[in-house]
Amino acid sequence: MTVDPLIERLDQLSREGAPLERLLDEAMRGLHETDPHFHWTGVYELFEDNMLRLGPFVGAPTDHVFIGVGNGVCGTAIAEKRNMNVPDVREISNYLACSTETRSELVVLIRSGERIYGQIDIDSHRVAAFDEDAVAKVQRVADWLARAYDAKAASRRTTP
Ligand code: SME
Repeated sequence: MTVDPLIERLDQLSREGAPLERLLDEAMRGLHETDPHFHWTGVYELFEDNMLRLGPFVGAPTDHVFIGVGNGVCGTAIAEKRNMNVPDVREISNYLACSTETRSELVVLIRSGERIYGQIDIDSHRVAAFDEDAVAKVQRVADWLARAYDAKAASRRTTP
């Protein structure tokens, strides 16, 4: 299912002045609904101490609320400044298990140029669940969120 309606909803919420936390929550809920093979969909925000911290998510609660840069699939994506599409997590030695049922995982960075704000993390119970179309739609949502973070950073600079 396309993310067009989700992007429209996010645009609308943003015009209404919704705070970033609300936009993140809406984005994760909306994205989760677009694919029955997305079994856990969440956002990790990158903080200045170089730690990823779990934000809004849909799916089972996870122990991995904080992830250090370089740890697991999520931390590796930040360390290497790239998206990760892991077809079978059983082949990853430093994988941090969220659920024993997870087979594949996709991490797409929320980034604006060199600035990385965080990432969208999706787990699936299916091996190799993330094809080109799935990656492209997650990327669209990540890019939309990167602009929302940019806007928040810009308003911080202009608000006394
Ligand atoms: N599997 C991730 C940890 C996050 S949970 O999947 C929600 C990792 O290896 O970094």
